[in-house]
Amino acid sequence: MSDAILQTRNLAKTFKGPDGEIRVLESVDLSVSPSESVSIRGESGAGKTTLLYLISALEIPNQGELFWEGEDVLKKSITWRARRRGAFMGFVFQAYYLIPELNALENVIIAKRLLGRVTAEDKKRAKELLERVGLKDRLKHMSGQLSGGERQRIAVARALINRPSLILADEPTGNLDEHTGDEMMDLLLGLCEAEQTSLVLVTHNPEFAKRTDRQLFLRAGEMQKSNGHSQS
Ligand SMILES: Nc1ncnc2c1ncn2[C@@H]1O[C@H](COP(=O)(O)OP(=O)(O)OP(=O)(O)O)[C@@H](O)[C@H]1O
Ligand SMILES: [Mg+2]
Repeated sequence: MSDAILQTRNLAKTFKGPDGEIRVLESVDLSVSPSESVSIRGESGAGKTTLLYLISALEIPNQGELFWEGEDVLKKSITWRARRRGAFMGFVFQAYYLIPELNALENVIIAKRLLGRVTAEDKKRAKELLERVGLKDRLKHMSGQLSGGERQRIAVARALINRPSLILADEPTGNLDEHTGDEMMDLLLGLCEAEQTSLVLVTHNPEFAKRTDRQLFLRAGEMQKSNGHSQS
């Protein structure tokens, strides 16, 4: 699909383990359209996190191609990838990864600062995003003073601050109780829709997976369709 914002072709990844090579991904073809949400399920060890690292070009595949908004990422320099990655995608991880020395607002702004100067407009957007995730009254709280659900909401605001085309979320509800996880999904899907941001969601939870536009399953190193929806 030519207008895909993300496309992988025939991606393969092998790791060198203590007992020889581990073939994790055999041949992954994935295509994500603008504003589309896609979930990926699969057994533990199936290679879901590995695939997100390949998509973000933080890991390099042994074989295959990767395109961000039509650009052939693996042919570009490391500097190009780093700069482009920060503007093109946002990340939400299971473990939040907030900076403990920074407060909630600073933890959101940092993602902007990494791309260059932070303007008054950026600070306004950071505050707005924190308000939209329900943390208007927690701007100055340090991450250690916040609950897991609150930390993850900050991580969502941080992922969106640069107006990325794509968010990669790796089990974003993995550390949350069921109710908080539900709320997190409402927030993530709602904000991605409002901001017209595509979402690739890795989750073990079939109910959460169902809420995305398209459901995929990673099995034996390849992407499979799930629930009768067609892929790419
Ligand atoms: N850097 C590495 N070196 C060697 N092996 C690795 C490395 N990273 C991942 N693996 C192996 O690759 C396989 C896939 O790992 P990955 O973390 O992608 O799985 P996953 O699908 O995300 O699992 P989970 O659902 O438990 O998070 C695992 O068997 C893992 O041990
Ligand atoms: Mg994983």
